[in-house]
Amino acid sequence: ADIAYYQNDNPYLTDAEYDSLKKRNEEIEARFPELIREDSPSKKIGAPLKSGFGKIPHRFPMLSLGDVFSLEEVDDFVLSVKRFLNTADSIDFMAEPKIDGLSFSARYENGRFVQGAPRGDGTTGEDITANLRTIRLLPQELPADAPRILEVRGEVYMAKADFFALNQKYEAEGKKTFANPRNAAAGSLRQLDPKIAAQRQLDIAVFNLQLAQGRSFTTHTETLDYLRSQHFKVIPYCLLRTHADIMAEIDRLNDTRMERPFDMDGAVVKLNDLADRETLGSTAKFPRWAIAYKYPPERKTSRILDIVVQVGRTGVLTPKAQLEPVRLAGTTVTFATLHNQDYITQKDIRIGDTVVVQKAGEIIPEIVEVAPEHRPAGAVPYYLP
Ligand code: IVH
Repeated sequence: ADIAYYQNDNPYLTDAEYDSLKKRNEEIEARFPELIREDSPSKKIGAPLKSGFGKIPHRFPMLSLGDVFSLEEVDDFVLSVKRFLNTADSIDFMAEPKIDGLSFSARYENGRFVQGAPRGDGTTGEDITANLRTIRLLPQELPADAPRILEVRGEVYMAKADFFALNQKYEAEGKKTFANPRNAAAGSLRQLDPKIAAQRQLDIAVFNLQLAQGRSFTTHTETLDYLRSQHFKVIPYCLLRTHADIMAEIDRLNDTRMERPFDMDGAVVKLNDLADRETLGSTAKFPRWAIAYKYPPERKTSRILDIVVQVGRTGVLTPKAQLEPVRLAGTTVTFATLHNQDYITQKDIRIGDTVVVQKAGEIIPEIVEVAPEHRPAGAVPYYLP
């Protein structure tokens, strides 16, 4: 699944399926530590690098975030931070949208953008400088008083509207479409020819100042304000004092996530004070001062009325399930992608089946599971013509 996702930009598990398998593996490992394998997904950050690119060692390890899936776990996080800092006082947290894109770091020397890389395996990333240069919103030059070295970290993404337009164009041309905006963004950045990235509408938001030589800051908010003054497009954030504030902001981010131009797969809760962050430090994979709360994808039950097959210009056959219309994540869904015969066979999807649908990456509806107990008599396995 990692190879399909990270290297081929063509996942076959939904993010939710992937997360739940990963979580189950972690639960098993917590109960039976003697079973932990060297190649366990719990020990890995990202994936092996794609060949063909130069390599850039990260000056600061590009850590990932620990995921949680319930508000109780967010609670535990807040409490554990307070315990660690040995304080009962209220401390400032912040919440930001978690953009579902591709993490990158960018280095500026004497005010010029010189180098950029995605997370890669956490310690080294591919040299995608040429592709990052094609992104209009990433400043190529900083204002006159820029530090000698400045490094930022952020997310490259494709806006939902641009992703739709790109897929529509590809579909009309009979080309293979992208599964979701994240894959479209990753696929664009991991092309050796920067002309391809230049043709795609990519966007960025920065969320961390890694280094600004000669300057010091005391809070995360200050660093974000500074980055804005340096003409970076900065992630929207909200400063939170109390426990109730944090919970309310997570809810608010969830309620408004469909209206945002980008795919958002959760909320990131971070500690604001930079000295406190130092005190907390990080594990091999995650900082202890931040956490990602992942929203569950919305799911609904529907029924397959028919399976229709689309023929692309090059003759590629794409099966789609025609569904009984159902409201899902802000739109009325009447079709779900069935990808290909393997997918249909693996899930044993038949006309007449009652199915659970969700939007993968919140956009393309897909079938999560089939309820064989509701299968009408006489339903037969489906084969593409
Ligand atoms: S903070 C050291 N803030 O989520 C902590 N990450 O699952 C750096 N992401 O690799 C991460 N939006 O690519 C942070 N507002 C945000 C984010 C964000 C998206 C991505 C980032 C990270 C991944 C972890």
